[in-house]
Amino acid sequence: MIRLPMTEIDRTKPGPLFLKVKEEILRQIRLGGLRPGDRLPPTRQLATELGLNRGTVSVAYEQLVDEGVLESHVGRGTYVATELTMDALGISNGASSEYKWVDHFAGIDPPPPNLYPQVNGNLIPFHRNVPDEALFPIDTFRVSLDESLSIEGERLLSYAPKAGHPKFVSFLIDYLAENRLGGVSQNEVLVVNGSQQALDLIGRAFLRPGDTVVVENPSYSGALELFRSFGARIIGVDMDEFGLRIDEAEKILARERPKFIYTMPTFQNPTGRNLASARREQLVRLAARYEVPVIEDDFDGELFYDNPPPPTLKSLPGNQGVIYIGTPSKMLFPGLRIGWIVAEDAVVEHLGRVKQIADLSSSQLLQAAFARFAQSGALSKHKDRVRRAYKERRDQLLQSLEKRMPEGCSWSRPGGGMSLLVSLPSHLRADRVLEITADQGVLFSPGSWFFVNRGHHHLRLCFGSVPVEQIDTGVKVLADAVKRELRDRRAVALGKPSSLPQV
Ligand SMILES: Cc1ncc(COP(=O)(O)O)c(C=O)c1O
Repeated sequence: MIRLPMTEIDRTKPGPLFLKVKEEILRQIRLGGLRPGDRLPPTRQLATELGLNRGTVSVAYEQLVDEGVLESHVGRGTYVATELTMDALGISNGASSEYKWVDHFAGIDPPPPNLYPQVNGNLIPFHRNVPDEALFPIDTFRVSLDESLSIEGERLLSYAPKAGHPKFVSFLIDYLAENRLGGVSQNEVLVVNGSQQALDLIGRAFLRPGDTVVVENPSYSGALELFRSFGARIIGVDMDEFGLRIDEAEKILARERPKFIYTMPTFQNPTGRNLASARREQLVRLAARYEVPVIEDDFDGELFYDNPPPPTLKSLPGNQGVIYIGTPSKMLFPGLRIGWIVAEDAVVEHLGRVKQIADLSSSQLLQAAFARFAQSGALSKHKDRVRRAYKERRDQLLQSLEKRMPEGCSWSRPGGGMSLLVSLPSHLRADRVLEITADQGVLFSPGSWFFVNRGHHHLRLCFGSVPVEQIDTGVKVLADAVKRELRDRRAVALGKPSSLPQV
């Protein structure tokens, strides 16, 4: 029996749920994920997976049987019809000259509806998990670029060797030893185009449709989308204030064979939480015991505001299975498109080959300039400066949330990074709150993007790009919107008129 590669039905779109189940099955057939003769999961199972009523799934199946898309065999289950017609799939029979491109694309879902309207006037961008452009050290970086070109000349503008620009790789090994992890040798490093490419290469190298990936729940939406695009089934492990729950992870590893565990132990996106030291050791040991690789995404480990974070997983004993990913995107600027993978040489060798197939090379010019910039002392000066700026923003955000948010809301308290997670009372929906705040220019990311399943009452606030003097105004708009939603829900529960549209 085939597993339907759908983990959640999009409840933000209008329309009855059974129609969404129907549309998703039709879409999977058009994309080739379901083929004629494939058996569908029993209605009860699919309903449980999607968090729906069994009746909802049954109606969707029944209608598709009536329309000739599915066939039902008593006692044997429901199958995709063996003789499917184009009509049944809603595909024109060549009469139209227009391509339906969405049916040609493989793997990647169409983008979600744009939740962010065009904001005229003052925008308070709590949705942007990026460093503040106003703090970019442009002049110093320009000098590093110029110097690199003058000293290294034309060769800098050629394709790079497979592992990266040799001088950059040497610099990186020293830099990592000073800041994140020591004892790395040349053949354990691969330079890539940002950590997103590192994740993509890992996906290409490790994942086939139907494979399982274990992640923290919630996790980085860009990684979830990416792994799903390879047809992976994602299992989320709950977190608490000390990060990923190792006991939960162990239960999963005892029954599944995931291709890897993807984790952000340091200032996790979206919660900003750290995995506690003892748990780091437990995770490395657990993964080694089950022989499951761990992908450690250390994207913002250097942006700490209180104490330095615990050691990286890759620097702990027994770390052979850890594939470490780093990037300057958050501590400096993301437009460099530099990132690095540190792993056992067999893994680096293989990922290097996958990278060559994907894009031939990364920019040597930018690697050389970044190394020069760092070696001149400008990077550590810049890190001090942004740590001070973001700490002030983090403190202001926590203070404003404390002062303004209504009872029943809670939030994480990050010691670094640029984001935190707010949890609303569970009967509220963050996307509805966003509709209200967006009208006033206050944007944030709804939690459903980060949670493997549901998460609709959470939201992520990023403070890196919001000037400190705008934070309290933004939180006030958010808090007022949450209070309004609470009032409206209460009114609906009591059957009173409210500001909700009465549909
Ligand atoms: C957790 C995490 N990993 C990786 C990335 C990708 O970063 P880059 O490709 O710029 O290095 C991001 C970007 O926001 C992120 O939040």
